[in-house]
Amino acid sequence: MSTTSEPLKRVIVTGGAGYIGSHVIYILQETRRYKVISIDNLHNAHPKSLDRVAQLARDALPKDATKQEKESAEIDAHTCDLTRPDEIRRVFEQYGKGGIWGVVHIAAYKAVGESTERPLLYYANNVGATVSLLQVMSEFDCTRMVYSSSATVYGTPPIIPIPESTRLQADSPYGKTKVMSEAVLEDLCAAEPNKWRALSLRYFNPAGAHASGLIGEDPRGRPGNLLPLLAHMAIGRVKDDKLCVFGNDYPTPDGTCVRDYLHVVDLAKGHLLALNALTDNSEVFDSCPTPARFKAYNLGKGKGLSVLQIVEAMRKATGFDYKYEIIGRRRGDVPDLTADPALAEKELGFHADQDLETMCRDLWNWQSKNPNGYDTEIPPAQPLA
Ligand code: WQD
Repeated sequence: MSTTSEPLKRVIVTGGAGYIGSHVIYILQETRRYKVISIDNLHNAHPKSLDRVAQLARDALPKDATKQEKESAEIDAHTCDLTRPDEIRRVFEQYGKGGIWGVVHIAAYKAVGESTERPLLYYANNVGATVSLLQVMSEFDCTRMVYSSSATVYGTPPIIPIPESTRLQADSPYGKTKVMSEAVLEDLCAAEPNKWRALSLRYFNPAGAHASGLIGEDPRGRPGNLLPLLAHMAIGRVKDDKLCVFGNDYPTPDGTCVRDYLHVVDLAKGHLLALNALTDNSEVFDSCPTPARFKAYNLGKGKGLSVLQIVEAMRKATGFDYKYEIIGRRRGDVPDLTADPALAEKELGFHADQDLETMCRDLWNWQSKNPNGYDTEIPPAQPLA
């Protein structure tokens, strides 16, 4: 925990009520150096997540916390449609020109399969909203952004592990929205190199939850992703008698797809490191080949795990006897997405060091304490006897 007499930096986190966003807010609040403002349309998030995050921050305050430290534990929460510049402007107006230090832009639709069925929704919400947000940021002299990108920008990468220099060749509308948004940022930083600075964080597969079990992933309806689906099966929210494994004929050790799973708290810490690298005296852009202060970093562990390895790890964490059936491949899946995290480790000091057992244990701790996600009523903490 660090305390400082410097005034709090106001940072907007879009998608702040979501799985990644709520963990990012937690990490920012832990420093007590930021005043966090959350913008979320609550499309795939529960407002109670912000109450829980603020509770974590308040509980962590020292008894003699200063007024400013107490202020850092409170979140300004706004619900707004980021495709509407007028709605975004109404938020920025509350803090005035120069009032917001930076933006961590996480809000996006992220279902690869859905993006192929509803591409316009994805281009509007993921690219259109990013452009609208940047336009309003510029009007209010807010010119720093940490952008949430994705490993899906690599499509089917030619080499594994994947370095950032790999050609971007997304093959789903979702992945293309991430490639396009990165291009918007890069071109903006190139056009006004003395004004803008941005870092794009290419997430691999976030997993787990904060160890308190107070915040976690709470997808609406049936989870599309493997780990939350396995958690829902173990808690009984998904009644399937077996998991459908999408193909075991891939060129991987056991034939099932390989992904680079990293703990969501490690991922969130990567955002703090990226924000720190946007300060005026940062050297992270010194190695840029052009004056544009834009860089992209992989956030992963650099360790690939197969579907069957994940199932086995969740069997151990939950005690649930998973059955599975191998069925056909899922459209859009690629054999292996494993990061080369060396650049983020070297230049940001990023380390995804929590292991798979911890990810599964923390995921199960969240799910078993919140069988119905944020709709689960948690009794108030009982006073110590
Ligand atoms: C993992 C593996 C499936 C479900 C995620 C996000 C996406 C983007 C990229 C952020 C795959 C297999 C899954 C099931 C299965 N993230 N699987 N049966 O596909 O890597 O995508 O990372 O930008 O938004 O969704 O993750 O968890 O969906 O799948 O066999 O019922 O598990 O085939 O190989 P994926 P996932």
